[in-house]
Amino acid sequence: MNNVRGKVILGSFIHSTNRGKVELLKNALVLINTDGKIIELIESSEPGYSSALKKSQSSNSLYEISSHQYIVPGFTDLHIHAPQWPQLGKALDVPLEVWLQKYTFPLEAKYCDENFARMVYSDLVATLLKSGTTTAVYYGTIHQKANQILADICLNKGQRAIIGKVVMDNPEECPEYYRDSSTQSALEGTSNFLNYVKNHPKNIDHKVDVAVTPRFIPSCTDEVLQELGKLAKGNSTYVQTHCSESDWEHNYVINRCGKSDTEALMDYGLLNQSTILAHANFISENDMELIKEEGAGIAHCPLSNFFFSDAVFPLRRALEKGLRVGLGTDIAGGPSPSIFDSGRSAISSARALENGVDPSINRDQRGRKDSRIDFSDAFYLATKGGADVLNIPTGSFEKEKHFDALLIDTQVDNAKISIHEDVDNDQDVIQKMVMLATRSNIVRTWVSGLSV
Ligand code: GUN
Ligand code: FE
Repeated sequence: MNNVRGKVILGSFIHSTNRGKVELLKNALVLINTDGKIIELIESSEPGYSSALKKSQSSNSLYEISSHQYIVPGFTDLHIHAPQWPQLGKALDVPLEVWLQKYTFPLEAKYCDENFARMVYSDLVATLLKSGTTTAVYYGTIHQKANQILADICLNKGQRAIIGKVVMDNPEECPEYYRDSSTQSALEGTSNFLNYVKNHPKNIDHKVDVAVTPRFIPSCTDEVLQELGKLAKGNSTYVQTHCSESDWEHNYVINRCGKSDTEALMDYGLLNQSTILAHANFISENDMELIKEEGAGIAHCPLSNFFFSDAVFPLRRALEKGLRVGLGTDIAGGPSPSIFDSGRSAISSARALENGVDPSINRDQRGRKDSRIDFSDAFYLATKGGADVLNIPTGSFEKEKHFDALLIDTQVDNAKISIHEDVDNDQDVIQKMVMLATRSNIVRTWVSGLSV
């Protein structure tokens, strides 16, 4: 079975439409139109079920999955550096500010070579689709051609993507070999890339979009940040940047701007409903309020935070305050391409924040109370939470959403997930999937009903 446009799928669906609730709907029907959007989800107990089932059988449009298969919404990776793919799994030994200069800028500088970009980006996008990422929010590099190649590849392979030309024009923080040659050229590069993507002949259904992308405040001059704020507003584009990631980064901004990242971004005109802030580990209560008021979203990247952030993001606090949050891999700060891994790391790091980690400290003082999250939060963040940060109609199987989905098989030879009807209730099945599923369990990925 390949594409499911115009089909009716019968089987077990798992989705979360709100934080705190994940449902397993057995023997449900999902009707998909010829554009790949969901017409309706009908549960077996609902009135129209039998007639819809009969109709799909007689019109030969029924697609039934097996009893050990489950369909879940595709994942959104809210924060990933495409050029860092060759660095995955290495260079995790030094702090952020050293890592950038020692490993990351030299690697990203190589994308002046178009062939290198094409080879890496093809492999990356294919791997992400196999890993369940149907939407990715990418940082590219400073190079026009390499960024265009990434957009072309996403369009050719059918991945939904938001891509940013990375802006870094500050001579004090960026080496000469990898820096926008001037503030003006950084702005022109951003506009040119925007025009390339908006006018791309293959981008008719707008699967690929653009984000204005100041790398982070330290990499950028005040002038470029101000102008990018205007550019983003004028073109109603997404904005993505790193925010209060580590002690060094957070303090650098306080020293230079006299305020936090969040407050400074606000003043540059870069904080709004289309902003994706990566990390935000060191945000204050006041910053949280500001982020909530402006409606910006947060890309929580727990695996990367273990290595580069010096602390754990107060995820539960942010969720309970009503902030919009999803997950990111932050490749290659985080050494895994899988949003399943991000979700599991979010669970473990929130538990570490709650319990504390230093055994020499008294148990009562070791951690921060009420910080844990559970598998249902992780599932929500990976699917609906991420889609909501981007304001796109994906992430659940509700009417009118795009059918971006994964077929999970629990019985594949090399990655079996043991489910026992006698002892596992519906929530147990979901928890096992969140905790145990790997890339091998994902046997098909659809974007807008097309198999990719
Ligand atoms: N801050 C600025 N650039 C980067 C990057 O590439 N990765 C991470 N994790 N933080 C950054
Ligand atoms: Fe990052």
